[in-house]
Amino acid sequence: MAQEISTKDQFEFVFNAFRGLQTVQVISLGLQLGMFAALEKAKGGLSAAELAAELKLHVPYVRIWCQAAYAFNVLEMTSEDKYQIAPKLNTVLLDQEHPRYLGGFAQGFATYLADDFQRYPDAFANGTVHPFWEHGAPFSEWVSGLTHPLQRLVVGKILPDMFGEQLKTGIHVLDVGCGTGRLIFKLAENYPNCRFVGIDADANGINIARKESSRLGLSSRATFRHVRGEQVKFESEFDLALMFEVFHELPMPERPSVLAGCYRALRPGGRLFIVDETWPEDAQQLRDPAFGMSVLVQFSELIWGNIVSTESEQSKLLTDAGFINLKRGDIGGTFTTIMATKPLEVPAGTD
Ligand SMILES: C[S@@+](CC[C@H](N)C(=O)[O-])C[C@H]1O[C@@H](n2cnc3c(N)ncnc32)[C@H](O)[C@@H]1O
Repeated sequence: MAQEISTKDQFEFVFNAFRGLQTVQVISLGLQLGMFAALEKAKGGLSAAELAAELKLHVPYVRIWCQAAYAFNVLEMTSEDKYQIAPKLNTVLLDQEHPRYLGGFAQGFATYLADDFQRYPDAFANGTVHPFWEHGAPFSEWVSGLTHPLQRLVVGKILPDMFGEQLKTGIHVLDVGCGTGRLIFKLAENYPNCRFVGIDADANGINIARKESSRLGLSSRATFRHVRGEQVKFESEFDLALMFEVFHELPMPERPSVLAGCYRALRPGGRLFIVDETWPEDAQQLRDPAFGMSVLVQFSELIWGNIVSTESEQSKLLTDAGFINLKRGDIGGTFTTIMATKPLEVPAGTD
């Protein structure tokens, strides 16, 4: 017989959730003030007083930060009462190139997402949305830091496996919801014969992308337009269209027109490649760790107007737009990839 859950059990369950929240705060502060970076640099560890002296911080506060971080398993203590970062956490918290980097996420949770959360009570009452592009340029930069390691994986492995020769020969690529353009820059660096167009509804992202494109000397083959996905008017110009962490951001009523625009923009035989989260078909699967990222993204981006689609919703939208040969994959069991093809023989009246 299953053991009855006590009030004490539930108290501990909620209390542990508070510890989780405070762990994120401790991590965020440690990153912001450079405390993890200083501990990482001093290989044998630092006492709280040494850490405070190194960073010109107030010793008693730093001591409590060290002790709290130790209590939360973020720091370890050496035999001489010095602190060092817990094993492998330097990678997860400091290595911005690593696919398992979460430092940026922790900082955003304590800042942008905490600010967004203040808006939730009103939003729940009246359904208001605070869209991505109203958050400001630092937010756009922050998001592009979050997607950067995943983009590296896709550009380094997944796209070359799928399109190796074509990318080398040179193709025309459209990035819908390109943000600050970093996916295009990574591809442009690896594939000098390709040309790129990035579009986004966020003027801040596009401004950053244009400046970076010119700084990198890529303006002749990487251009950026401030236009919404549902307004794209390209006709059979592209071999590949990308949507990287964008599908769940498109307003539900606009999804068919964005996909129709991608379809029109592609040449016959061209392909659309999507990276996104997927919502489970059955709500009981919401506790499955495979959907952990989807739940996290959905709840924290609710107020941006975002809705993570189920597999059947994604497939129906793509098929209704005319795409065929839908091939699904995943990255790390967390992110969904979908490759969809525009048929070579386009049915009459659909192009
Ligand atoms: C999570 S960000 C991803 C940006 C970029 N693809 C990356 O990997 O960093 C989602 C992007 O989708 C853009 N977006 C959302 N709705 C859009 C729409 N209707 N048309 C074009 N872009 C849109 C946002 O402005 C934002 O830049």
